[in-house]
Amino acid sequence: MHGDFLQPLISAERIESRIEELGRNISADYPAGKNMPELRLIGILKGSFIFLADLIRQISRDVSVDFLGVSSYGLSTKSSGKIKIQQDLTHKIEGVDVVLVEDIIDTGTTLSYVCNILKQRNPHSLRIATLLDKPSRRVVKISPSYVGFEIPDKFVVGYGLDHSQYFRNRSDICVLTEK
Ligand code: IMP
Ligand code: MG
Repeated sequence: MHGDFLQPLISAERIESRIEELGRNISADYPAGKNMPELRLIGILKGSFIFLADLIRQISRDVSVDFLGVSSYGLSTKSSGKIKIQQDLTHKIEGVDVVLVEDIIDTGTTLSYVCNILKQRNPHSLRIATLLDKPSRRVVKISPSYVGFEIPDKFVVGYGLDHSQYFRNRSDICVLTEK
């Protein structure tokens, strides 16, 4: 928004080629076949929607999609620590190979909460794919299986990530500094 400084951090080209690699890794880890569980990407709304759209097109086997609406941040750049499911999945995940797709892992609070809820629904397996990871900020232990980029402790926007709902439409990822 007006008065915010944006400093480029990860270009659209780097994002694209890294997602190709992640898609190849996921395709190799979940070989398709008779008697193999269904593979489903579950996007954590809203931040993951662009990452998920690009990632799923790099997966070379049948894969389904669902979304989980979760809120944690409100309008601030700091986590409130309070997480709420605002929109639940539309389909059961029992027996399904689930890959949770997240834009960024910061403290780990959101994903640990989401994982605990989803594990109770008996998926065949549950892994995490995150575009960005800020490991230095971790409060709750969460180990993503697929990480696009590790980044320093800066607030970033673009490629789906927002500040107060803005900047999601940028093709690159930028560090945001508020004036
Ligand atoms: P966590 O619960 O602290 O791991 O926070 C995860 C959520 O906070 C992510 O899904 C994002 O929506 C949001 N978030 C954390 N860091 C950033 C950031 O740098 N930019 C935009 N959103 C962020
Ligand atoms: Mg998010």
